[in-house]
Amino acid sequence: MCGIVAYVGDKQAAPIIIKGLKRLEYRGYDSAGIALLNGKLNVYKKQGKVADLEQVLDGKTLNSTIGIGHTRWATHGEPNDVNAHPHYSGSKNLALIHNGIIENYESLKKELISRGHTFDSDTDSEVLIHLIEDIRDNNDCTLGRAVRLAMQQVIGAYAIVVMDKDAPSQLIAARKGSPLVIGVGKGEFFLASDATPIIEYTNEVVYLDDYEIAVINEGELEVKSHKDVPKTPYIQTLEMELESIEKGGYEHFMLKEIFEQSRSIGDCLRGRIYPKDALIKLGGLRKHGNTIANANRIIIVACGTSWHAGLVAEYIFEELARIPVEVEYASEFRYRNPIINEGDVVFAISQSGETADTLAALELAKKKGAHIYGVCNVVGSSIARLTDAGVYTHAGPEIGVASTKAFTAQVTVLTLIALMIAKKRNSLSDEAIKELSRELESVPEKVAIALENAAEIEKISAVYKDAKNFLYLGRGYNFPVALEGALKLKEISYIHAEGYPAAEMKHGPIALIDEEMPVVVIATRDSSYDKVVSNIQEVKARKGKIIAVVTKGDALIPSMADHVIEVPDTHPVLMPLVSVIPLQFLSYYIAVMRGCNVDQPRNLAKSVTVE
Ligand code: F6R
Repeated sequence: MCGIVAYVGDKQAAPIIIKGLKRLEYRGYDSAGIALLNGKLNVYKKQGKVADLEQVLDGKTLNSTIGIGHTRWATHGEPNDVNAHPHYSGSKNLALIHNGIIENYESLKKELISRGHTFDSDTDSEVLIHLIEDIRDNNDCTLGRAVRLAMQQVIGAYAIVVMDKDAPSQLIAARKGSPLVIGVGKGEFFLASDATPIIEYTNEVVYLDDYEIAVINEGELEVKSHKDVPKTPYIQTLEMELESIEKGGYEHFMLKEIFEQSRSIGDCLRGRIYPKDALIKLGGLRKHGNTIANANRIIIVACGTSWHAGLVAEYIFEELARIPVEVEYASEFRYRNPIINEGDVVFAISQSGETADTLAALELAKKKGAHIYGVCNVVGSSIARLTDAGVYTHAGPEIGVASTKAFTAQVTVLTLIALMIAKKRNSLSDEAIKELSRELESVPEKVAIALENAAEIEKISAVYKDAKNFLYLGRGYNFPVALEGALKLKEISYIHAEGYPAAEMKHGPIALIDEEMPVVVIATRDSSYDKVVSNIQEVKARKGKIIAVVTKGDALIPSMADHVIEVPDTHPVLMPLVSVIPLQFLSYYIAVMRGCNVDQPRNLAKSVTVE
C-alpha cells in the first residue's frame, strides 16, 4: 500500500523516479507526487495516476540528481492533490514520503499545532515531517538525529524517506512495519518499497529492518538502529530479471501472470521433488521437518487469496499428513485471543510477505511460543524475515493486483510440505508419495493444457459480462477454488459473486437462483462428483445458468450445463491447481469487456500494509 521511490546519485532523478512509480503503481494509484531539488525544493503532486503527474511535470525544468516520489493508496484524507505525497515541512526546507499509518498522529498533531505548526493536508504523514523539523530546530541537531528522535515518538507503521533543501546529496530513510529496500549502485542509491523500481539499475540491495535508519550522504550509506547503534548493512544480490516485471507483450499483467502458471508451478517444484525416491527436499525447512511433523496441530494464517490457498492446504495436510489444521483469517486471529500452545506450528501464507494483519498474527503466535513458518513469494519480505524458516514460492514478481500465479504456487508449495510431513509421520506409504509426486510433476503440463481454453472462455465471458450476480459452487478441494473464483470476479469486474460449498446451496443461496443467475460449478471427477451433479440439477430446475468446469471427457454434465469448460484430469488433491485456471480467465475477460482496469481495480492495492 503506497509505493515510495527515491534516488540520489549523478543521474537525473526525475525519469528514474517516475519509471519507478509506474512499476510500483500496483501498490496504490489514487495520487502521485515527486520532490526534486533544483535550487529550491520543489514538490509536484497530483490526484490520479502517475500518468497524470507526468502531465503536471510536462515542460518543467526538472534538473535534479536527487529526488523522492510516491504513489498513494489513501488511508487518512481523501485522494486529492493536497493529500498526495511528498509533504513539505513548515519551512518548506524538508520533504517526506511515507508508506504506512501513524496511529498517534492526532496527539502529535495537536502538540505541534500548540507549538505554532499549521498543516495543509488531512494526512497522518504530514505530521511526521513537521515533527522532524520541530525536533531539528529545537535541538539544533542533524537531520539524521532528528528523524531518529521523531520516530521514537511515533506509534504505527512507516517507511519514510526525507530530503533536505540544504543537503543535495543526502537522503534519510527509516522503517518500522512497512517495507523499504535500498539499491546500491556505483556512487548512487535507490530506495523503494520493493525491488521492482531498482532492478534495472542494480541487483545489489539492502533490506532495511524495523527500527533502522539509513543515512545516505555523499555516496556513503550508514545504517543505525533507532537507539543510535551502528549496523553493518548486509548487501544481498537479487536474482530478479527485468523482463519478469514487464508485460512482455500482454495487454495486462494479470493475463501474463495467468499464462505464466505452467512455468511458475514448474519453477516452484524444481529441485524439490524426487518421485523415484519418494523424497521431498525443501531447503528452507531442512532443520524444521521434525518440529512440523511432531506438531499437535498446525494453524494457517493468511488473508484473501492466500487464505484460500490455506484452505486448500487444510484439506491436503489433513488428508495426507493426518495433522489437525485450522485456517484463520489473520485479521481475526490476532484480535480474538486465540489459544496457542507451546509447540504449535503456525504457517503464514503471503504473496507479498508484507500483509500487515498476517505479519501481526505471526508476531502474536511467536510471542505465545509457537514455531512460525512462512510461505512467501517476495524474497526478503518482512514475513520471510520474521519467521523461523519457510519456503519461497518462486512464482516471480506478481504485479497484477488480483493474485493468480501466487495462488497456484502457494498450493504447490503447501502440497510439497504436506508430502514432506506425510513421509516423516508415515501417514502415507512411499508408494503413495511416489504416485502423488509423479502426478505433481505433471501438473505444469496439465496447467498448460488448461490455459489453451482461453479463447473459449472469452466467448462465455461475453454472454455473462452484464450479469449482476454470480454464484460459484464446489465441493471438497474445489470448494476453496469456488471461493477464489468468486473473489477474482468481484475484485476486478465489480460484479457481486459468492462462493459456496455446493451442498450448502440448499441452506440459503438457492433462493437467489433464477434465469438471471449464472452459477459456476467446479464439477471435476472426484468422490463427490455425483453429489455435485445433483446440485447442478437443482440449479437447472430453477432455471439458473450453469457454467461447469469438468474433467476432460466428462459425458454427463455437458448434457445439463449451459457451458462446459474441460480441464485435464489429475489427482483430486492437485485439482485446484488446474480447476482454478478457467475461473481466472472468466474474471479477466469479463472485467476487460466491462471496461474495468484489470491490473489496478478500484479501491484495492497489491500489498495491504495497513490493518
Ligand atoms: C486477491 C488478492 C488479495 C491478497 C491478500 C493477501 O486477488 O490479491 O486478496 O491475496 O491481500 O495478500 P498477500 O498474499 O500478499 O498476503
